[in-house]
Amino acid sequence: MNITVFLGAPGSGKGTQAKRLAESKGFRHFSTGDMLREAIKAGTEVGRRAKSFIDKGELVPDATMIEIIESALAALPKQARVLLDGFPRTVPQAEALDKKPSTQVNRAIYFMIPEAQLIQRLTGRRVCEKCGEPFHVLNLPPKVAGICDKCGGKLMQRSDDAEDVVRRRLQVFAGQNDQLLSYYSQAAKLSKLDADKPVETIQNDLMRLLHD
Ligand code: AP5
Repeated sequence: MNITVFLGAPGSGKGTQAKRLAESKGFRHFSTGDMLREAIKAGTEVGRRAKSFIDKGELVPDATMIEIIESALAALPKQARVLLDGFPRTVPQAEALDKKPSTQVNRAIYFMIPEAQLIQRLTGRRVCEKCGEPFHVLNLPPKVAGICDKCGGKLMQRSDDAEDVVRRRLQVFAGQNDQLLSYYSQAAKLSKLDADKPVETIQNDLMRLLHD
């Protein structure tokens, strides 16, 4: 497998870019946040356990997350090109991927963005309740207010995009980020991407990075 991981703060644009790359370049895209939200919607045991962490802006325990991602990757063909968005978030999660030869990470891309932008991006985010496509009330508005351009679904606000939860998510991210960046930098797998640019420009920068 060829595995690229997207690292970056909540709201840095990982999901927006991962969805575009998956559609245009055929990557298999796994967003652990989306997987957890689906589990909550479906009322599974994992979903019930995860909800209390997500609602508070805390991380779901490593053991649960590692199990989720390992079973998703185990179902893929050996030659799959994979994008992980939102995993790993801690060094133990990164180590779990690298422990198995078949899931070793090839490249980590860090979305860099000033923190001041993140609150505005997250509190203005709206997502399609049917297909998960992200929009933004100002930066990336849908053609018709409240309706997804892609599938016509209704747009909603994620409960963890309330400002108090966003602030906690940013604190939690800051507590893990340096160690995770060091982990991939020491392994010579880290690339940094300026994520404070228009969506299309970042998409082109990413394509170039992935071809290097
Ligand atoms: P998750 O869903 O992964 O949330 P996150 O990492 O906090 O990331 P976001 O989805 O908020 O941001 P993003 O970088 O994808 O930004 P987006 O592209 O949407 O996780 C949610 C929760 O699940 C966690 O808090 C945790 O509890 C749990 N969890 C998940 N994975 C876990 C793990 N591995 N371990 C433990 N717990 C885990 O963009 C944001 C907004 O900005 C959008 O409105 C978009 O339209 C806009 N935008 C995007 N790009 C641009 C641009 N270039 N210019 C202007 N606006 C832009």
